[in-house]
Amino acid sequence: MTEVGIDGIEVRTGKLKLDLAEEFAPAQGDDPEKYTKGLGLNASSFPDVYEDIVTMGANAAYRLMERKGLEPEDIGRIDVATESAFDHSKPVSTYIAGCLEQRYPGTFHHANKGERKFACISGTQALDDAFNWIRAGRNRGRAGLVIATDTALYERDDPGEATQGAGAVAMLVDEDPDVAAFSVEQGYGSADETDFLKPDQQFPSVDGKRSVQVYLARMREALEDFESAGGDTHPDNFAFAPFHTPFPGMVSKAAVLGYRHAIRGTDVEEELVEEIGRQPRREAFDDDEAYLEAVTEYTDALAETDHYRDWYARTIEPTLTVSREVGNWYTGSVHLARVSGLLYAAEEGMDLTGKRLLVASYGSGAQAEIHAETVQEGWREEVGAIDIMDRVADRTPITFEEYEAIHDVHNRDEETDMEPLTTPEEEFVFDGWGRMGERKYTYVE
Ligand code: HMG
Repeated sequence: MTEVGIDGIEVRTGKLKLDLAEEFAPAQGDDPEKYTKGLGLNASSFPDVYEDIVTMGANAAYRLMERKGLEPEDIGRIDVATESAFDHSKPVSTYIAGCLEQRYPGTFHHANKGERKFACISGTQALDDAFNWIRAGRNRGRAGLVIATDTALYERDDPGEATQGAGAVAMLVDEDPDVAAFSVEQGYGSADETDFLKPDQQFPSVDGKRSVQVYLARMREALEDFESAGGDTHPDNFAFAPFHTPFPGMVSKAAVLGYRHAIRGTDVEEELVEEIGRQPRREAFDDDEAYLEAVTEYTDALAETDHYRDWYARTIEPTLTVSREVGNWYTGSVHLARVSGLLYAAEEGMDLTGKRLLVASYGSGAQAEIHAETVQEGWREEVGAIDIMDRVADRTPITFEEYEAIHDVHNRDEETDMEPLTTPEEEFVFDGWGRMGERKYTYVE
């Protein structure tokens, strides 16, 4: 059967940068290491005055189409995944298509457009929809455009404020993909949870500590479900394991639990017996409490082994590089982690063709999904064209006072006028309001 997966990727970050150690921590009266070491974040990206989920998504999609030599007629569907939408009816994908149509003679009138919502996991769900549409034979030779775009802002003074970010990842889903082919095997962990939600409000209500526990619980369920679907989880069989990354510290908590689960009964558990013993088995304990205590003890010891540390440095650490500098991008976050790993591999001259990725997505509310991907022959050329690290380096640093003003500009309950801090060039920009309250966009040469 023809492989289906990601044929091309393009990434756009918000153009402003708030340094957490230098600007945010002093304003909060916090030790900078709470952010840089505890959460694992150095900085957050923010959109300038003329940027939003549409401009970031459209700019990423436009560069992707240009690079791949595509016309609107080559695209059969546009799915936008976001949890920052500003309209309950008209999807962001129509706005993005409208932007792109300013640049092409043709139109997307025969493309199916939609918007996917399930917190951060909807980017992966949108990829799934495109995969299924192609596998069902309904694409008529056309590709699907999936755009994960968010302004991940929290209420001022919410503990989540340090994890904010803004950016978009555009992905082309097609047959015979150049970057990565999706596995058919897939696992889910899903439950009705109240840890992070936005009931008719722009900024989330968050129970941060609980959200961490829910992330871990749903990830575990997804891993078990992936195994029961026949998915291989042996940690040494994957080049990288990109996780949804609200902050890198979250991934380090999840990775050790996943590793422990995956090595159970394998050669790796056996190799570690002398150093840290065998994993506790429930049947050897009288009650759950004693069993859980033993499991925690084993996990702590496992995290300190060279075996685990080497695996983490090889398989997880490279996926966190971009996230450390930009914060949480919600729907785009796990896809940015994939990009980060691939950029590292390209830079290191690694031969990834045929190697596998274990992709672990998550969305609050809550659902985790795990699937595998096989890296395709064209990956190096594709990844070589992604200029996100230059864009990250080119961001304009902002002071804490400028951050406060920018947060207000993007707060729908505030009426704040502010001059942009950067100058737009060759990009789509927000250009004011239309007569029905719609947002208007234009392309600046
Ligand atoms: P907090 O309570 O302010 O921070 O917020 P903390 O006190 O828990 O400290 C954070 C870490 O830094 C801790 O590490 C501290 O020990 C450490 P841990 O014990 O957890 O390993 N620390 C230090 N380390 C070194 N030097 C120091 C220092 N001080 C402290 N001086 C919290 C943390 C995650 C709760 C907050 O950021 C938050 O509410 N974030 C938003 C929610 C979130 O990101 N949840 C993650 C899971 S849910 C998810 O991923 C879904 C999401 O993306 C949304 C969606 O799906 O749509 C959020």
